[in-house]
Amino acid sequence: MGTQIKKVSEIPGPKSKEMLARRAAALPAGLGKSTEVVVEKAEGALVWDVDGNQLIDFAGGIGMVNLGHRPQVVVDAVKAQLDKHIHPGALVTTFELYLEFAELLNKIVPGDYPKKTLLANSGSEAVENAVAIARYYTKRPAVICFEGAYHGRTMLTLSLTSKYGLFKRGFGSYAQDIYRFHSPNVYRRPNSMTEDEYIDFCIERFDQNLISHVDPSAVAAIIIEPVQGEGGFIPVPKRFLEKIRKVCDEHGIVFIADEVQAGAGRTGKFLSIEHSGVIPDIVTMAKSIGSGLPISAITGKAEIMDAPHLGGIGGTYSGSPIAVAGALATVKELIKPEFLDRATHVGKIITDRINAMKEKFEVIAEVRGIGAMLVVEFVKDRITKEPDMDFAMAVIKKSVANGVILIRAGLYTNCIRFLPPIVITDEQLHEGLDVIETAIQDVLNERV
Ligand SMILES: Cc1ncc(COP(=O)(O)O)c(C=O)c1O
Repeated sequence: MGTQIKKVSEIPGPKSKEMLARRAAALPAGLGKSTEVVVEKAEGALVWDVDGNQLIDFAGGIGMVNLGHRPQVVVDAVKAQLDKHIHPGALVTTFELYLEFAELLNKIVPGDYPKKTLLANSGSEAVENAVAIARYYTKRPAVICFEGAYHGRTMLTLSLTSKYGLFKRGFGSYAQDIYRFHSPNVYRRPNSMTEDEYIDFCIERFDQNLISHVDPSAVAAIIIEPVQGEGGFIPVPKRFLEKIRKVCDEHGIVFIADEVQAGAGRTGKFLSIEHSGVIPDIVTMAKSIGSGLPISAITGKAEIMDAPHLGGIGGTYSGSPIAVAGALATVKELIKPEFLDRATHVGKIITDRINAMKEKFEVIAEVRGIGAMLVVEFVKDRITKEPDMDFAMAVIKKSVANGVILIRAGLYTNCIRFLPPIVITDEQLHEGLDVIETAIQDVLNERV
């Protein structure tokens, strides 16, 4: 038994259950919660619940805390800013931290040309702004997005999002001029094709779609997650990203890389698209760039970012000094080589352990992703690849009850995703993985 998980009651315990009942009475039923953990405090990769249980966090608030819960540098920066000013408003005044943060992002986002950065409050808002700016710049209406994509829950971003049943059912109608193309999922390619043949096929389909769905001359932007998040941590093959770059160059289309989940050092590089060498025109960032503070950023080619007229973009909350102070302190840490190496190291431990489990458990199809952005996919049969959602959900439930916070992913809800804080210790990581391994075994035992 390890020492990092400390259970003093069942999870959820009595106090947690009381609060969950209050939650059910006070909050709308549609507001999802992946676990029944009721948090008292959190530090690094550990979370304490209101019953005094100490848990290991493998979800990180859905990738919000790559630098850990309450990193000291962020707490210090926020406290210092609280003593200066909270919000004179970036639409009314100027403050230096916004400039410093924008200058830093302009420098570290790839692209050997002048860049500019706009700040907003959430991933969805970042995507909204990126698309709006691309439309303004190109004077065109259409946007191409992909099957399995998740870009948010505002009306435009929900229109760009896939997985209809969970995210979109009942909320339509949706924005016009959105065209959804097939996105490569190498694991689920037809059995008759090699990986290379399949990518060729996806590229051919992309060209066909530019005839059948929309003409490139009408397209303002192509938006893609370089590693699909909600869709199941599916890395987009380099050749497919290169194809998008080529089409964008040929037709004057803006290439938007949505790095809201895959960015912020998660994959071992600051942005996941850096693994491919492909350079997008606009990058959207959020989640871990603020260590959980509500902030997002849109960084892109200055020429594109400067397109909208004066007063055409912005928001009263955008560029909150508190969030900017925390985000600046965060990003300075995220880009350090030792942090990025640690992401690779964390990823290797998870990959090695899950691959060893795969030898034992037929239900594991594969462990997939880049760096520390990893999922394990569960199937009923390795040949038919029939997704096993019930198994994934049962493993999550058992693991949480035994002290590891875990969440699902995937178009078929049959994956468990790993988004632990990168600052997690090896000991915490192994102990958490032990819990998951036992949970898999237990769920299998219960099935027979
Ligand atoms: C790739 C991606 N884009 C956009 C969003 C939306 O971000 P937010 O929930 O902050 O609006 C998410 C959220 O998970 C995401 O993963």
